Amino acid sequence: MLKVEDLSVSFGGVRALQNVNFEVHKHEVLGLVGPNGAGKTTSFNVLSGVVKPVSGTVTYDGHDILKSSMHQRVTYGIGRTFQIPQPMHELTVRENLIVAQRFGRPDGKVKQDRIDEILESVNLSHKSESDAATELALTERKALEVAKALATEPTLLMLDEVLAGLETTSKKLFMETLKKIRKQYNLSMIVIEHDIETIMNMCDRVVVFNFGQVIAEGDPEETFRNPEVVRSYTGEVLA
Ligand SMILES: Nc1ncnc2c1ncn2[C@@H]1O[C@H](COP(=O)(O)OP(=O)(O)OP(=O)(O)O)[C@@H](O)[C@H]1O
Ligand SMILES: [Mg+2]
Repeated sequence: MLKVEDLSVSFGGVRALQNVNFEVHKHEVLGLVGPNGAGKTTSFNVLSGVVKPVSGTVTYDGHDILKSSMHQRVTYGIGRTFQIPQPMHELTVRENLIVAQRFGRPDGKVKQDRIDEILESVNLSHKSESDAATELALTERKALEVAKALATEPTLLMLDEVLAGLETTSKKLFMETLKKIRKQYNLSMIVIEHDIETIMNMCDRVVVFNFGQVIAEGDPEETFRNPEVVRSYTGEVLA
């Protein structure tokens, strides 16, 4: 359903992505892993329309994504979170979701029922009237990021390190919440995380990036045993 072909991105002299290919199938959870600066977030930025690639094609459910506006991509069902949570200032949690929902719906209408349902799914019902920028703990800010993406009514949800920085117990609980959400809304997902255990727990398949290229992909357990993948993680230089 999502097909990325021969994607290349440059920032000045930096080749952030070089001829990257990957696919996400319907209802699949795909993990994107790799060291810092490997190009994971850049891939999300290209898919959501924040960054324009030098070359390549991306299709989603038959739509030519790179020719579509950011707003069109959202209405086609591509939703994402940002690595650094970006709540809208001076708005409550509920108001943040209303803005996201209006952006995601072709008719721009607000459906309060769906917002209530999302708040419950991410365990934020009790915080719906809190100021999103100043009154949320870290886990709650991360939950709001996921909720905002859900409010746009995605079929593909892209999560950029939403579990990173959480302590073990919150991480486990949040991971269960994400799995529940995936079933509830029948989603495909792309999950960026550094933590291998998290990826193994959540993902059906994994794609490994290093220096802007895909160096391996496949079943998570097998892929993490691949010596080239291990080397990319430990930073060992290839002989
Ligand atoms: N807007 C930008 N302008 C210039 N260079 C950028 C920009 N965004 C990313 N880069 C560069 O592109 C490369 C890939 O960055 P990217 O953020 O995609 O990595 P990442 O895999 O998400 O890393 P991390 O795990 O640290 O989040 C890096 O060299 C980064 O410095
Ligand atoms: Mg990143």
